[in-house]
Amino acid sequence: MNGGCGIMEGFSEAMPTLSLNLRRYLLKPTTRENVVKLSDMREFFADRDAVERVLSRRDPKIYEYREFTPGEGPGHLSVGITVIYPGKVGREYYMTRGHFHLKDTAEYYYCIAGRGILLLQSRSGEVACAELRAGTIAYIPPGWGHRAVNVGRGRLAFLYVYSSDSGHDYGVIKEKGFARIVVEERGRPKLVDNPRYARRPPRRKEEDK
Ligand SMILES: [Fe+2]
Repeated sequence: MNGGCGIMEGFSEAMPTLSLNLRRYLLKPTTRENVVKLSDMREFFADRDAVERVLSRRDPKIYEYREFTPGEGPGHLSVGITVIYPGKVGREYYMTRGHFHLKDTAEYYYCIAGRGILLLQSRSGEVACAELRAGTIAYIPPGWGHRAVNVGRGRLAFLYVYSSDSGHDYGVIKEKGFARIVVEERGRPKLVDNPRYARRPPRRKEEDK
């Protein structure tokens, strides 16, 4: 990690800085890194037959992220960069798994490169979306699940900043999916109902407690 600014030398404690390589999308230093392949998220795409067809041939990288968390405990901000590769599984574009925060905390996405859609979904199933293009800053309000989708021909890269003690809930997305998904239709991205989400039988009232 870098530190200090020269002119303060001798009487100020060095404050941490990070570096981001905008050509290779590398963040340094990191405290967490992950490469997510299709086999890691087979339940997240709507067309399971298409997932298995692709996996019978290869296991493509869907996205990766690099993140830095400065410390334990409340009050810190984590920063990271996510890169989603271009491609589709069936008609559905490559995307992140998506998650809710365990706490009611917000998040910012700053799009560095590519074309994407940010899907947002409330706990009660309301859906919203925003376009991501280089220079876009998208705000994810507290309580909204979020997923980024790459609808471009190149990589989609965005920086994110969130409260370090937010926690991540991937389970509800894995189980229920998003109500809407982004698919290619006549060469263009289109937001459509998620057939797997819609096919679920409505829960009986006594189970709604
Ligand atoms: Fe998040």
